[in-house]
Amino acid sequence: MMGSGTVSPRTERRDGAGRCARHLALILLALVLLPLSPSLADPGMSLDGRVEALLARMTLEEKIGQLTLVSNQPPFDPAAYAPDIVAGRLGGLLNFKSPGDVAILQAAARRSRLGIPLLFGADILHGYRTVFPMPLGEAASFDPPLARFASEMAAREASEAGLNWTFAPDADLSRDPRWGRMVEGSGEDPYLGRVFTRARVEGFRAGGLATTLKHFAGYGAPIGGRDYDASAIAPADLHDSFLPPFRAGIEAGSESVMSGLNSVNGVPSTVNEALLTGILREKWGFRGFVVSDWAAVLELQQHGVAADGAEAARKALLAGVDMDMESRLYERHLPEEVRSGRVPLRIVDEAVRRVLRAKFGMGLFERPDIDPTTRSPEILSETMRQAARAVARDTMVLLRNEGALLPLAGPKRIALVGGMAGQGRDLTGPHAAKVRFEDAPPIVDALRARAERDGATVSFAPGCEAECLSDEGFDAALEAARQADIVVAVLGEPYEGIGEAASRASLRLVGRQSDLLQRLVETGKPVILVLLATRPVELGPVVDRLAGLLMAWFPGTEGGAALADILFGDHAPSARLPVTWPRSVGQVPLTYDGVPSGRPHDPGNRFTLRYVDEDLAPLFPFGFGLSYGTVAYSDLQVVTPRVSRAGTLDISVQLGNTGRQAVREVAQLYVRQIVSSRSRPRRQLKAFRKVALQPGQSETVTFRVPAAEFGFHRDDGSYVVEAGRYTVFVGASSDAELGTGFEVVE
Ligand code: GLC
Repeated sequence: MMGSGTVSPRTERRDGAGRCARHLALILLALVLLPLSPSLADPGMSLDGRVEALLARMTLEEKIGQLTLVSNQPPFDPAAYAPDIVAGRLGGLLNFKSPGDVAILQAAARRSRLGIPLLFGADILHGYRTVFPMPLGEAASFDPPLARFASEMAAREASEAGLNWTFAPDADLSRDPRWGRMVEGSGEDPYLGRVFTRARVEGFRAGGLATTLKHFAGYGAPIGGRDYDASAIAPADLHDSFLPPFRAGIEAGSESVMSGLNSVNGVPSTVNEALLTGILREKWGFRGFVVSDWAAVLELQQHGVAADGAEAARKALLAGVDMDMESRLYERHLPEEVRSGRVPLRIVDEAVRRVLRAKFGMGLFERPDIDPTTRSPEILSETMRQAARAVARDTMVLLRNEGALLPLAGPKRIALVGGMAGQGRDLTGPHAAKVRFEDAPPIVDALRARAERDGATVSFAPGCEAECLSDEGFDAALEAARQADIVVAVLGEPYEGIGEAASRASLRLVGRQSDLLQRLVETGKPVILVLLATRPVELGPVVDRLAGLLMAWFPGTEGGAALADILFGDHAPSARLPVTWPRSVGQVPLTYDGVPSGRPHDPGNRFTLRYVDEDLAPLFPFGFGLSYGTVAYSDLQVVTPRVSRAGTLDISVQLGNTGRQAVREVAQLYVRQIVSSRSRPRRQLKAFRKVALQPGQSETVTFRVPAAEFGFHRDDGSYVVEAGRYTVFVGASSDAELGTGFEVVE
């Protein structure tokens, strides 16, 4: 339809001078009649003012367009999305990962009536092209600034490619290693979850990406550890354990929250008004926007809470989901839902405000479009690789080192076994948007390069491919072991079996890996087991026969080099377990912070807490990890033995490096409330500090913990700190024994 600003073909044939005069007149007229587009608006206008000015100009379809997020889909032709974008029917896109695609789509947005820029999202959970360690490994560093750094570097790389939004960090707490996505979060502890979620939000945003706290809420506790299954969480536990990491991310400035695919206590997260509106907005004051997980609005029908797409769209929006990822039910049904009055227009407007507020806040209206002709020097640069290596080194947890066999030294003959050591794929991990396996030098290359410096040799005999389905190569591997001084076996979870939709009923090594490991041990040669895994592995009795055990998680593009740094002692291991490591899957869930039983284990009394067929204790406790040295804890002092509820607990403890190697120790502080109105955890992590100590060096470490941290939530979500007696423990893991008492007073 021709509007006042359009010059008709007939007019074109008149003289040039007259035409210019008319064009000028039309432009002046437009500037007077049409309010200035927000991007032209006076920069002094407030952000909310710009939002309101733009909102006032939008049609209902354009408003709903801002609430519609769609993914790149085969045949992966960005031009196919242009008509919807020009028509104002899309507010965001995901999985467009190349600068060329982004440029085409940005140009289409510029041609739309209002020129509202697009969100370009992707799963940059632990990297874009340069892959950093998967988040659970980063949590093992007990070094939040390290995770912040990794997130910022990943964001810088992705921003260079035109992306502006990551579906990260994963703020899910998980106590169940059967659940494949435990690796995407920060483990079982709420405090660790808070500090790492905050660090990651800060890092991604510093690197130029808006963030998404996912998956709100309780997605990490599916029944049976089965991804996508329902979650059943006691309300007080939900408030005490599962929600705090999300709140920390919101306080750090996250632009968005993603509603989970799961249901919590019978209510799907995507229609959970109590969570999405009651908690997020009314209690926490969150002003960002909520995006659904992939097709979660459509799946409300599978959950049995919507009879059709219209009801699903209506219920999700009214509950507090602002943006619909991939189902397009908002686009299809909300216009009629609004016109019929079933959805008030003000609800749509509020959702659009949240999205526009994020876009203005991200500076998208001012940010220049990507130039697809320039390839960013950042992407997979040497700087990026060195950053990935530095981070990976501090994620690897040393769990056994019998006879101080590690670090390797001297002209040893090393037999390297395990197919995972021969390919970069099993170092990287999913949800790194542009991962390419060939970017990651295999472990075998990194170990060989480093071994040569010591005159050592590495003979590589895989024994079996990563999945280890056949024992055909076992003989060659065993012969290599017999000819060697030491065996390094790299086993674990191959790439295809980890992350989303990768729940396991067993935690044992896959395929014939256990057989291979057993036979390697039976050669009598010392075996160092390196695990490339995303969760604790059920090792069985062989674990006691291993000379060394190193949990390397999925360490990323430079994981091979980082592993060599650790094994050869160029960098000392300093990571600690962010999850409890069970002996067997039958113990799950098994965490350090459970509440006490009325019948604590008594070996002399069968009618007490126990298994008849398994130990009660984990194989390795939360917070555990070895270094190449030894550290003594002593002289625990409570500077403030009586603390008011609004006060601060001051603690000091002496750490001494009693070994011959420099160490970086993670001093951990746990607190227990002895008597309370409800059973309280045996202990809870409330602070930690990573301390570098040279051989012979001692240091007094002080902790200041607000007494407000010692409270708990009641089932109704109210929070209380009770006066009474508490115990504080400080040590090298959740088994810390050095403890003393203090009192919280009114
Ligand atoms: C997936 C995941 C979510 C991811 C989203 C977009 O279903 O649950 O973590 O961010 O889809 O890829």
